[in-house]
Amino acid sequence: MADAPREQWSSRAGFVFAAVGSAVGLGNMWRFSYLTAEHGGAAFVVLYLCITLLIGLPVLLAELTVGRGSQRSPVAALRHYGGRAWTPLGVVFVAAGFLILAYYGVIAGWTLRYGLTAIFGGFVGVADSFDEIAQGADAFAFHLAFMVITVGVVAGGVKAGIERTASVLMPLLFLMVIGLAIHAAMLPGAEAGYAYYLDTDFSEIFSHDVLTNAAGQAFFSLSLGMGAMMTYASYLRRDENLPQGSLLIGGADVGIAFLAGLVVFPMIFALGLSEKVGGSTVGALFITLPEAFAVMGGVGRVVGFVFFAALVVGALTSAISLLEVVVSAAIDGLGWGRRRAALLAGGAITLLGVPAAWSLSVLEVMDQVANNVFLLGGGLALSLFVGWRMRDPISEAGVGAENMRWFPLWRMLLRFVVPAVLLYVLADAIPGTLRAIGALFSA
Ligand code: TRP
Repeated sequence: MADAPREQWSSRAGFVFAAVGSAVGLGNMWRFSYLTAEHGGAAFVVLYLCITLLIGLPVLLAELTVGRGSQRSPVAALRHYGGRAWTPLGVVFVAAGFLILAYYGVIAGWTLRYGLTAIFGGFVGVADSFDEIAQGADAFAFHLAFMVITVGVVAGGVKAGIERTASVLMPLLFLMVIGLAIHAAMLPGAEAGYAYYLDTDFSEIFSHDVLTNAAGQAFFSLSLGMGAMMTYASYLRRDENLPQGSLLIGGADVGIAFLAGLVVFPMIFALGLSEKVGGSTVGALFITLPEAFAVMGGVGRVVGFVFFAALVVGALTSAISLLEVVVSAAIDGLGWGRRRAALLAGGAITLLGVPAAWSLSVLEVMDQVANNVFLLGGGLALSLFVGWRMRDPISEAGVGAENMRWFPLWRMLLRFVVPAVLLYVLADAIPGTLRAIGALFSA
């Protein structure tokens, strides 16, 4: 297998759709809205935007540069530019793929189930049974169904599987979210939702928890810190314009997250369910919104279907990228065929999802560990790698770019600003994460 020609995207647009598909997912709709609700609305949004610009985009460009430049999957790519000492980082990336997809698939399974609920049953009473829906054999069954679809797409290959799926689903997702935002705007009482979302107490910005969560969210939402974007960029031709690609991906990702807020908050407030938002946890979206859809009756079933269909679509194109990290590493590193790699990796990840499917608290801890340790730590290592270890990242990133003026600034950010912020955030997040793990085992 090793000398089979490496797969490539059929066009630049195909890559952009796939990468936007990776970025836009549950993070934009589920995670972004519950974190915003938890951390003071607009204050959180502003901080998240700043971090995306200052930390997220530079790291994204770094991942694209290493991927496209090396034309290899993460483990081999890091070895290519950094020597053997960097191989373990690639292995950590692959491990993060396992960990994240295992619980991501469970949440995606909930969305699949809710989408079907809209068609077949309606949402009445669903909110009250969230704990049963989210945990147990049913949750696992939907996780399994979702993973089967994901494996099917990845097994189909870069062009025929990943690119084709994303090119169809991403435009559809945009249309669905825009339609939902328009619908939400026409609900009487929507203003209260906008007010909550868009103007709040800016002193929240200075409570330290907010910075950590905003940084974790920026990484998760842009699919950074575990080589997903690196893997996708490795299927690019050497002459694509990477800075432009980064801006497109970042813009689409932030845009959809922002739009999702314009859907979620007006709906919740228009239906008088706002008290339920305050004490939100991972379940917020899955408890409050179905209740809103139930109140809306027949219309609610249609709107609810579109909403959860958008979530399933977003989750699928993201899950594909998570699995592709593992699969590409197995193809390059172990010499496996794509089908075999997709099936075995997908199967192992599905099994790893069992604890997350059985317990919401396990799922929450997995999410915390993935973000606070793997993604932020991976981002830190990667910024140091490209900033200090790679010989000439600027010329590599510059191939195909038109304007080189910003590259020195990019490298300065990678060398100093990104590591400093990530170190601070990691130091802040790790003790809490360890405590959460401890609590899980002592419970
Ligand atoms: N970005 C996706 C989302 O927002 C999730 C995701 C896909 C991801 N691939 C990733 C997160 C790689 C971290 C790393 O839902």
